[in-house]
Amino acid sequence: MDFEEKIVNILRTTTSLVSGEDLSRELNISRVAVWKHIENLRRLGYRIDATSHKGYRFIQAPDKLIAMEIKHGLKTRVIARDIIAYDEVSSTNDIALDLAGKGAKEGTVVVAERQTSGRGRLGRNWFSPAGYGIWTSIIFYPGFKPGELCQMNLILGVAIAQAIRNETGLKVELKWPNDIIVSRKKVGGILIDMTATMDKVKCLVAGIGINVNLSKKDFPLHLRETASSLNIEKESEIDRLSLFREVLHQIDIYYLRFKKDGFVPIREKWLSYNETIGQYIKVKVPGGETIYGHATDIDIDGALVIRLENGILKKVMSGDVSFIL
Ligand code: BTN
Repeated sequence: MDFEEKIVNILRTTTSLVSGEDLSRELNISRVAVWKHIENLRRLGYRIDATSHKGYRFIQAPDKLIAMEIKHGLKTRVIARDIIAYDEVSSTNDIALDLAGKGAKEGTVVVAERQTSGRGRLGRNWFSPAGYGIWTSIIFYPGFKPGELCQMNLILGVAIAQAIRNETGLKVELKWPNDIIVSRKKVGGILIDMTATMDKVKCLVAGIGINVNLSKKDFPLHLRETASSLNIEKESEIDRLSLFREVLHQIDIYYLRFKKDGFVPIREKWLSYNETIGQYIKVKVPGGETIYGHATDIDIDGALVIRLENGILKKVMSGDVSFIL
């Protein structure tokens, strides 16, 4: 814990004013150093009142995804052991892949207020403006086979859906493989990048984008029909920090449950959030083929099972689903 984190912790847990002298004694640093750290915290957006000759009082943390704020009260075992927060990056997935190559711990979280080249699935861009969303990537070393990747998409989807439901009360649904849907509009998505050998996933980076407090006019015109935000759907401001902590908490729970009990219980949970099974759909699969049929099930690999027009069942491991009414 660095000095600024310690100062915030002391001020936060003390209801009375805390003098510079007390802080300097507690932290074993000079009063000038205390004052400099307080100024740094204010620059980060912390509101800390100072009453001359009496001391400091914590008023408010900034509405920013700062590492020490994310950690505050976070109860996770694997996820977020390290958190690296940026104001702006190209893509958090690119940063996380680079860190994983340099030996970052499993569960390391990279988060940014803004991405300049946010990436979506199938080569699309991901709109990631400053201050309104959760744009984050988490590093895993799951040690499973590349064929099990599809399950990871669904595990993350369930965890995110659960977190959003817990925090906002919104009715969240999941569109296979990993779109987070509210009222038929996309409010979030998952992009998995990995490095693998033929038989083992060495490193997996799960990129998560959640549109939290964007208003309709914040979205580019071409997204307004299909995308939405939690704020728009809930019709009120969402606490991004609290939601982010809950997302990390639920990912920790579901990832560890998967490692202990396998995919079967998570598949059941995914089906309870399902928006896909039972629908007549069109799936564009990698390579350009388009498949039409009824989505009938999620199999034990996490693949989507489709009943084609001729009655044959076909499994797809990845693709872009749209509904045909
Ligand atoms: C999708 O197309 O549904 C997936 C969107 C994933 C977006 C997130 S935002 C954080 C991470 N960094 C990226 O560049 N993309 C993912």
